[in-house]
Amino acid sequence: MIHDNGSSNKSGNRSFEDVLNVRMSRRSTLARGAALSATGFLAALAGNKLFAPGAEAATAQGFSNTVAQGAGTAIAQAGGSQLINFAFLPAAAATGPVPNISSDYQYDVLIPWGTPLQPGGPVYDGNPATRPTAEQQTQQVGIGHDGMWLFPIGTGNDHGILAINHEYGTNQHVLGKEVPASLEDVRLSQHAHGVSVVEIKKTNGKWQVAKSNKSRRIHGNTPVTFSGPAAGSALLKTTAGNAPLGTLNNCSNGKTPWGTYLTCEENFNGYFGATGQWTRSPAQARYGFSAAGAGYGWHLFDPRFDLSNPSYKNEENRFGWVVEIDPMNPAQTPVKRTALGRFKHENAELVIGKSKRAVVYMGDDERFDYIYKFVSDGNWRLMQARGISPLDQGKLYVAKFNDDGTGNWLELTIDNPVLKAKFADQAEVLTYTRLAADALGATRMDRPEWIAAAPNGDIYCTLTNNTQRTAPDAPNPLAPNPFGHIIKWRDRNNHVGLTFKWDIVVLAKDTHSIEKSAFGSPDGLWGDPDGRLFIQTDGNQPTVNGVQLNDQMLVADPNTDEIRRIFSGVTGSEVTGITVTPDRRTMFVNLQHPGDGDPSVTNFPAPQGSGRVPRDSTIVITRKNGGIIGS
Ligand code: FEO
Ligand code: CA
Ligand code: CA
Repeated sequence: MIHDNGSSNKSGNRSFEDVLNVRMSRRSTLARGAALSATGFLAALAGNKLFAPGAEAATAQGFSNTVAQGAGTAIAQAGGSQLINFAFLPAAAATGPVPNISSDYQYDVLIPWGTPLQPGGPVYDGNPATRPTAEQQTQQVGIGHDGMWLFPIGTGNDHGILAINHEYGTNQHVLGKEVPASLEDVRLSQHAHGVSVVEIKKTNGKWQVAKSNKSRRIHGNTPVTFSGPAAGSALLKTTAGNAPLGTLNNCSNGKTPWGTYLTCEENFNGYFGATGQWTRSPAQARYGFSAAGAGYGWHLFDPRFDLSNPSYKNEENRFGWVVEIDPMNPAQTPVKRTALGRFKHENAELVIGKSKRAVVYMGDDERFDYIYKFVSDGNWRLMQARGISPLDQGKLYVAKFNDDGTGNWLELTIDNPVLKAKFADQAEVLTYTRLAADALGATRMDRPEWIAAAPNGDIYCTLTNNTQRTAPDAPNPLAPNPFGHIIKWRDRNNHVGLTFKWDIVVLAKDTHSIEKSAFGSPDGLWGDPDGRLFIQTDGNQPTVNGVQLNDQMLVADPNTDEIRRIFSGVTGSEVTGITVTPDRRTMFVNLQHPGDGDPSVTNFPAPQGSGRVPRDSTIVITRKNGGIIGS
């Protein structure tokens, strides 16, 4: 979602660009005379490679390599000196109403918005005259396809459960009108949001929805529950006494080694508005609530989303969490894990740290907002054996980046006197995580999007762009930063330490002179077990050879610093979400909001000229020679 919304962070904390100015200046001086590599990886300035081994021993992130991703060969752990198989022909710079893919690859369309969860269920095919009813939408795949994960059944190479986020759909796209006219309209919009859990199977060479007792929809009105330190807090209770319902703006995702799916609530503030007199609290301001909201108008018919209705005070605190879903148990109630904090969660990259602790890296996607990590108190298996979720008991930290390439994790604990003076208890610290991080002096970043672990222990993060960046200076090529960049860091002590070392990987603008690698606004990110880095984009793309590029997916080979386009979407669509079968011969990605929902731009996935409303879709990508995706 291109949500280049204004910043709510007035903390005065030091911005990442300030730190970066100093850091880049120093490194440029050190590397004076060194040319940028052809693809513009700034890592070249310091002679680094993306996946270069850090000062500490590489520590395999076993889990992200083994859950549904195959064993991998972990080439990058060898120190980045071996070649990754990276031989596909790049996709040309492209625009237009249909996708474009490398000639070595092919794609198929799976589960567009409106696909029935069960074969034979109600279908929505994009006909603008026959929108689904709110009830039908609860039996169909939602809209705004974003993060997702494939949970294997059997080998998983031809059968599995796909858990997929539905981030958002505009009223114009979902309802065919700008403002809802009834509660039925609002319910349809609410039911198009959330998560789909869909059993899929490859039959006669084609992936399709399978009849299933596991498939289910979780949407804006599905019962949910809270767990962790803030679960019993008055801040999560309303005067009306209504039970907690729903998950919203499900952006990107995570997965756990115990087989569950994590869905992350991002721009939840936009669904709330005010019909009457309402005085915005400082906390509501910091989370971006406004009387008009983002234009959904739910508050006009559903008092739960009316900030001026005193009966529903605190309802807004029930959103902005990481939510755990068991994809194999349709009776499970989704759990909001409060220990992971409340902010505009992008994704939740879970790695196994020292002593088998569960470590979750997370970004807060807003201009000038922060990067976080959570560390469970103990070995995740032992905690589970004691009946404790590893995501309920642990420490939450926020990142501070220093000029010298080091960083510190600052613990967000009520035991810190700075926070003790401002917050009543840990539940309040977690419910207003952003305010606590402000108070500790965290570093204000250029919109943190996805965070991805590489097999050698490096952690990568896309910083998509920051159009409000000011004060450019000579050594800092990122001011202003309309195209974004990617950073990486390496935590001390195998992800559980309080310090880290960080580096710049690439400035997107430096790729623009090379057709096969030109990109902007990096967002989706995945490190495969061989060491390839998959980069997906959302928003501002460069113009190459006179072509204004569509959003796209590229593959980076950290050993050669080369980036190569593998796929681009349709005009007006974001490319996001990434998961593969365990053999990595099939990859699933999403086209979100094709044509921004406008059938005059594209009718995808229906044929051009059909007049159909374009529908968000999952795309199945395979290599024509049957090889590993990215090879
Ligand atoms: Fe939902 Fe920050 O992308
Ligand atoms: Ca984005
Ligand atoms: Ca995103």
